[in-house]
Amino acid sequence: MRIRILTIALASLFLSQMLAASGRAQGKSSKYTIVIHGGAGTIPETIPDSVKDAYLGSLKKALTIGRNVLAKGGTSLEAVEDVIRYFETDPKFNAGAVAGVEHIAHPITLAKLVMEKTRHILLAYQGADDFGKQMGLKWVPNSYFDTPQRKTELEEYMNKIKRHDHGTVGCVCLDEYGNLAAGTSTGGLTGKLPGRIGDSPCIGDGTYANNQTCAVSGTGIGEQYVRYAVGFNINALMA
Ligand code: GLY
Repeated sequence: MRIRILTIALASLFLSQMLAASGRAQGKSSKYTIVIHGGAGTIPETIPDSVKDAYLGSLKKALTIGRNVLAKGGTSLEAVEDVIRYFETDPKFNAGAVAGVEHIAHPITLAKLVMEKTRHILLAYQGADDFGKQMGLKWVPNSYFDTPQRKTELEEYMNKIKRHDHGTVGCVCLDEYGNLAAGTSTGGLTGKLPGRIGDSPCIGDGTYANNQTCAVSGTGIGEQYVRYAVGFNINALMA
């Protein structure tokens, strides 16, 4: 069994914005497949077309980034990392941690380094930030992750005007070598308690990949994924 990156879960159930592609790499006989998601939120009919187009444009761009990696013979792991890195720089999507990471601009790359360079599965909080610094990753002030939209959402949540639970990105890939990879990045739930860790960095809950069965990247309320070990259970059903 190979566990690849961090998150995953229940693709089609929750994916209001999911795009997928599969094809044949040029000059190669093997197929590749990629599926991405931009979180559990929906795009309501009432929003202006320009905003809707901006979201769909970003999703298409992310899909193209991953597809290009796979079509050139890149691995599923490389494609997942590149796609999530793109999402992590796009303020339209709420992206975040390995677990409790506050200063590393691309938590997905930090997660990959934990997998490749340590004997651990999960690093959290200051230890994770420090490891990222040690690995030479881009270090940013925590305010880097603030966006006006998310600040408004937090205010609405605190004033009990609206509940916002979404804000996750994910990608699962099958490369031409037969390897599955899954990646998920999130800022967590709006208004969460300090110290709360959701499903995204918990292998077997919100993220899971097994070459023998499936790759999963979840979005939605993380507590449900953790409660039912959703990623692992989907894998068990496939097995
Ligand atoms: N699914 C994201 C979270 O609950 O943190």
